[in-house]
Amino acid sequence: MHSFQELSKQFSGHFNIKHFPEKPASLYEPADYFLGIGGKRIRPVMCLMGNELFDTITPDAYHVATAIELFHNFTLIHDDIMDKAPLRRGMETVHTKYGESTALLAGDVMLIQAYEQLNKVQNHFHKVLQVFNKTAREVCEGQQIDMDFEKMDLVQLDDYLNMIELKTSVLIAASLQLGAILGGAGEGNAKHLYEFGRNLGIAFQVQDDYLDAFGDPEKFGKQVGGDIMANKKTFLLIHALSVASPAQQSELKDLMENNPADKVVKVLEIFKQCGVDAWAKDLKDKYIDVALQHLEDIAVVSVRKKPLRELADFLVQRDY
Ligand code: IPE
Ligand code: IPE
Ligand code: MG
Ligand code: MG
Ligand code: MG
Repeated sequence: MHSFQELSKQFSGHFNIKHFPEKPASLYEPADYFLGIGGKRIRPVMCLMGNELFDTITPDAYHVATAIELFHNFTLIHDDIMDKAPLRRGMETVHTKYGESTALLAGDVMLIQAYEQLNKVQNHFHKVLQVFNKTAREVCEGQQIDMDFEKMDLVQLDDYLNMIELKTSVLIAASLQLGAILGGAGEGNAKHLYEFGRNLGIAFQVQDDYLDAFGDPEKFGKQVGGDIMANKKTFLLIHALSVASPAQQSELKDLMENNPADKVVKVLEIFKQCGVDAWAKDLKDKYIDVALQHLEDIAVVSVRKKPLRELADFLVQRDY
């Protein structure tokens, strides 16, 4: 069994190659730029971990892991256009640096490269494609719902949870599941691993939303307060609105409607007064507990699960 760090190194060895031709440089340089600025690479490594939980890592797992990371980067390039985000991974976003039209195409071509990688898969090809496509469709659905919510005054917690499951957690879950399929896992085990990832993925997005408001910009690498500026319906806002005094509620609504210059500072103040910190921890704990129970229920010896347990700890405590 390998740790996340070890597999991450192995994956980088496969992934840090040229994925695109030279010309036109106006298209491929932006794509290379984005892949070159890194990222945590958690999803592809989860695919390798899902495979290794059951058997030695197959070459197919590297193709699928590469496809997953390319797909993830495609979603980020388009997400940054949708979210008007200037920064990612501590660097300029693709559309900020190269313009929106080029960013759209750089994302598109990355998605196509993801399918080129899938096309190399020798075993379980149809099942892999089916899981991949279902997941990709769900991510699009989640991203649309995320934007629809920007225009709504009030969103229920359950609807938020459904949205983050679609936009974020299904890809994390599918990364593990795809690894499991390639590792020859049985249906039941693969399902528990998917559920581990689905619940972990929800906690992961809760942490992402928390960091978007309270993270250290240096470490987080994204513009802090971006979700507040865009009126994103994160659990922070949903919780604050549900416990705020009438005066705080009307201030929050006013800030969202009128977007004053000090919006982020003012909203953060109310978030703090509403105790979002403790609430975020409870929400994450709830999903992590369910995730770990599913990991427990997978019928392989406990010691094989250690790297996944460690990864779960890291993902919800991370500050970047
Ligand atoms: C960012 O994912 C998008 C979300 C689903 C929150 P990551 O935090 O995994 O981004 P990178 O790849 O490490 O930059
Ligand atoms: C992004 O959610 C999910 C996808 C890219 C599919 P966010 O919009 O919260 O991700 P960040 O914070 O920009 O990384
Ligand atoms: Mg977004
Ligand atoms: Mg975003
Ligand atoms: Mg975010």
